[in-house]
Amino acid sequence: MQNNFYITTPIYYVNDIPHIGHAYTSYAADSLARYNKLLGKKVFFSTGTDEHGQKVELSARDKNMEVESFTDTISKKFKDLSETLNLSNNDFIRTTEIRHKDYVCSIWKKLLENDQIYLDVYKGWYSVRDESFISEADIKIDENQNKIGPSGDLLRWVEEPSYFFRLSNWQEQLLNLYNKNKDFVMPKSRFNEVIKFVEGGLEDLSISRTSFKWGIKVPDDPKHVMYVWLDALFNYISVLKNHNNKNIVSNFWPANFHIVGKDILRFHAVYWPAFLLAANIEFPKTIFAHGWWTINGSKMSKSLGNTIDPNFLVEKYGSDTLRYFLLREIPFGEDGNFSEELLKIRANSDLSNDYGNLIQRVLAMVVKYKNGIVPEGKNLNNEDKSLIKTPINDIVEIEKLMKSCQFNLVLATIWKNIRAANAYVDKNKPWSLAKENSQRLDTVLNVLVNTIFKINTILQPFLPSSTIKIFNMLGQFNEIEFKDINREIEVGTKIIKPVSVFPRIES
Ligand code: ME8
Ligand code: MG
Repeated sequence: MQNNFYITTPIYYVNDIPHIGHAYTSYAADSLARYNKLLGKKVFFSTGTDEHGQKVELSARDKNMEVESFTDTISKKFKDLSETLNLSNNDFIRTTEIRHKDYVCSIWKKLLENDQIYLDVYKGWYSVRDESFISEADIKIDENQNKIGPSGDLLRWVEEPSYFFRLSNWQEQLLNLYNKNKDFVMPKSRFNEVIKFVEGGLEDLSISRTSFKWGIKVPDDPKHVMYVWLDALFNYISVLKNHNNKNIVSNFWPANFHIVGKDILRFHAVYWPAFLLAANIEFPKTIFAHGWWTINGSKMSKSLGNTIDPNFLVEKYGSDTLRYFLLREIPFGEDGNFSEELLKIRANSDLSNDYGNLIQRVLAMVVKYKNGIVPEGKNLNNEDKSLIKTPINDIVEIEKLMKSCQFNLVLATIWKNIRAANAYVDKNKPWSLAKENSQRLDTVLNVLVNTIFKINTILQPFLPSSTIKIFNMLGQFNEIEFKDINREIEVGTKIIKPVSVFPRIES
């Protein structure tokens, strides 16, 4: 449906507690969800946890816990984090829920019916860290002649009965799909890697295991549990199949966006559409693979243990500040090194000095010179008109940038207006006008209040709780959709004495 928008995060493994890599993907998806909602679309945004497989089973054993209570505990941490991060998700799916398992079993049967599955024996190397079979070409040998996977873990030899999915049959259809759907994978450079990989040929994929138990049992052959990626990918539909006891698949499938990290692009851009084609289901519109947050150059990861807890950062700086930093600091798609120092610098310069200062000084002047009552603007000159108009005109450019998830550029565009508004204050000197020209003072303050209103409207998806506080100070208590951006703050509106929204962070 044209006016509906479905966006997802990956469902995160519950092998360990969340870190800022997970927060990053979730913030990006959430800002896109909020943005599309403000465009007037009906949005569904889902996230959740991926709970089966050998990696999770082994992590539970490591902690001496029953796997069920281990997954409950860690899944709860991800769910709590979605609240801490102020996510607007409509559902939170766990792959251990009946609604999910039932759906995946029905898919298995469908794939059998369509002759996409056969029984054989798997022999090969497996990476538990990546939950992935590793082909000879991707194996590295360390100094002790051990076989190492792409993520650096010791590979295990697997030799056991296994069901296979006829992935090799889908090469041509996949290449065809890529050719016809130029936005299927973003960014472009990643799309080219996917195409190259598929052009190199596809082998059938092992989709069941018999050497451990923690997974969804294969229907009619319970010695086998399903491969965790077959299980996990279908969360994107099982969540729609049974959302609050309603089936909303036809409202929201195919998804508009799967936001993922580049580590799991192959699963999403190759296996996922192949499974879907094989089950006669439509494929999603776009998979965006973003880059990694690194710590001293290596990927931040649960398996490596070099992580930073987002709860700690939110407590210290607030969720809006963390979100702003993550989305502003590096282009979505590229890697970036995380440091708290950079976060402080960014927050102080953009949030406190630029936006916070603009709001603080403008609203304080309305309170001081006009008793907090928004005055009338008359005889606007070209500079006045251009200041008010720029945020409105920028909406077209921002819409283009949002389609390719260029959050850093969206924010840079908005910040140009914030800086222009501060420069306008400096130039027009309302404190002098207060003595010399009360009519011009009224106009300048009116122009500034309305400019803040427009900037704040566009900023909502990126600073969801601060923008509400700012609207409240402007006497606005309802959600403002983008189509309302042309509205003027009514003359006579009472401005509330400003409180600092973005206090300076001391080092
Ligand atoms: O892969 N930088 O779960 P996972 C940026 N369960 N993003 C990062 C990151 C980093 N250093 N580390 C993790 C899985 N992420 C599967 C997904 S989906 C059907 C199944 C983010 O817990 C990024 O989105 O390993 C990455 O793709 C995801 O977390 C991997 O989370
Ligand atoms: Mg991972």
